[in-house]
Amino acid sequence: MPVIAFANPKGGAGKTTAALLLASELASRGAEVTILDADPERWLTQWGRLPGRPENLRIESEVSEESIVDQIEEAQGQSQFVIVDLEGTASLMVANAVGMSDLVVIPTQGGAMDAKGAAKMIRLIRNQERMARREIRHGVLMTRTSAAVTSRAMRNVRDQLDRAGIPVFLTPIVERAAYRDVFDYGGLLADLPEGQVSNLGNARKNASDFAGEVLVLLKNERPEVETMEVAG
Ligand SMILES: Nc1ncnc2c1ncn2[C@@H]1O[C@H](COP(=O)(O)OP(=O)(O)OP(=O)(O)O)[C@@H](O)[C@H]1O
Ligand SMILES: [Mg+2]
Repeated sequence: MPVIAFANPKGGAGKTTAALLLASELASRGAEVTILDADPERWLTQWGRLPGRPENLRIESEVSEESIVDQIEEAQGQSQFVIVDLEGTASLMVANAVGMSDLVVIPTQGGAMDAKGAAKMIRLIRNQERMARREIRHGVLMTRTSAAVTSRAMRNVRDQLDRAGIPVFLTPIVERAAYRDVFDYGGLLADLPEGQVSNLGNARKNASDFAGEVLVLLKNERPEVETMEVAG
């Protein structure tokens, strides 16, 4: 079953947040999801200890460079989707996870440092592709964008990526209070209390659009995914 890794060696690019949004959305559609929490801060593990995590969303917290390949393989046997939240470095663990992935999502904020991180990640993916002699689907995910305006920094990053022929997700992840609140409240985005979290409807729609795009990408790459039922 497909493995989706979130990677960018630049710290704070939005990997953990985007990984939870995807996991939350797939789980609320009824899919069996396993998260491998390979971020040393263990935010997803902490989130998972709060009340409200559904049974169809499991979290593996003890992930190491040596164990990650075995753990991904094992999780693939148990779940419809395996989501790997990686650390903000370009380590052997990151390379191992990328080598096992069907899709690598590269969260990137507008700004030169994030863009450089994304470029480094893409070089790592290209190397893994050569070593494995297979294509590794990947895409840059613009994160923490403004709902109202597209900043100049964001446009610059986008233009650079387009010129380099690097695929970019059509759905950017907007800066939303809900995406921080979910780490405090626990549970899925779908379960956050209406009225207490601002712009919750838009936040849910944004996560749903992103998950939809991921599913389409996976479908295009691997025909067997088509048979997977994710009630929507
Ligand atoms: N779309 C968003 N809306 C609001 N806040 C966000 C969003 N994306 C990220 N953040 C905030 O930005 C900070 C960094 O995000 P996150 O932890 O997801 O990045 P990361 O790439 O996983 O970082 P690290 O490299 O340290 O693992 C966090 O405080 C998070 O709450
Ligand atoms: Mg993280």
